[in-house]
Amino acid sequence: MIFAANWKMYLNESDSNEFVKQMHLEKENFVDKDIMIFPSFSSIRSVKDNTLFLPKIVIGMQDCSHEITGALTGDNSINAIEVDACIVGHSERRKIFNESNEIIKRKLDNALNNVASTILCIGETKEEKDKNETFNTLENQLSILPKELHKSQLIIAYEPVWSIGTGLVPSNEYISEVLSYIKRYLNELYSDEICDKILLFYGGSVDENNIKELSKIGNVNGFLVGSASCKFEKFKKMINAI
Ligand code: PGA
Repeated sequence: MIFAANWKMYLNESDSNEFVKQMHLEKENFVDKDIMIFPSFSSIRSVKDNTLFLPKIVIGMQDCSHEITGALTGDNSINAIEVDACIVGHSERRKIFNESNEIIKRKLDNALNNVASTILCIGETKEEKDKNETFNTLENQLSILPKELHKSQLIIAYEPVWSIGTGLVPSNEYISEVLSYIKRYLNELYSDEICDKILLFYGGSVDENNIKELSKIGNVNGFLVGSASCKFEKFKKMINAI
């Protein structure tokens, strides 16, 4: 089971360094665990440098530019800094930054071609769920996947928008049903050999109280956790629970 911490814009560089210092002090909790951390862009370098004591840790970008280089003030290329992973298509990018599927596809391709692991986030809004349009939405969001996968490991993170930051978590059955749908979609697109390597995550209001129960879902390979992953004690509890 993989634990992926999406620190969003919650922790600045000094908060991130403090967090990593705590991890070092209690490193026996983390050494043999599969952990991914997505710090703010400005903290990536220091988090990378200060987590070398964890041989398995993966540090990544929360987003990348749709371009590799050029006149794009304020944007960050996937090649801006050496990272192991990148998230694309997070619902906050889709909603707040108005990112279309076309733009996310370009980001996805950049990540898939340049880093070891790429997380594509997908998920329906409350309105879409209420109108029974969940699978249509997911199909549309998955339609940007390339025909072939070569370099990067693909991770699909199912994150219902209505669950992110709200404390509302779908039932295990609901999540499992959606993950099965995603698996079927992938099976139609890729060979069995490739499908076996694609991982499925759940994200949305995961915390130290529900992660154990959520990890009973048969087809979930990991979790993408936002706000709860920014508090060291919660982070530690969650990692120890899975
Ligand atoms: P949350 O966010 O855990 O704060 O709900 C999850 C995410 O946005 O990846």
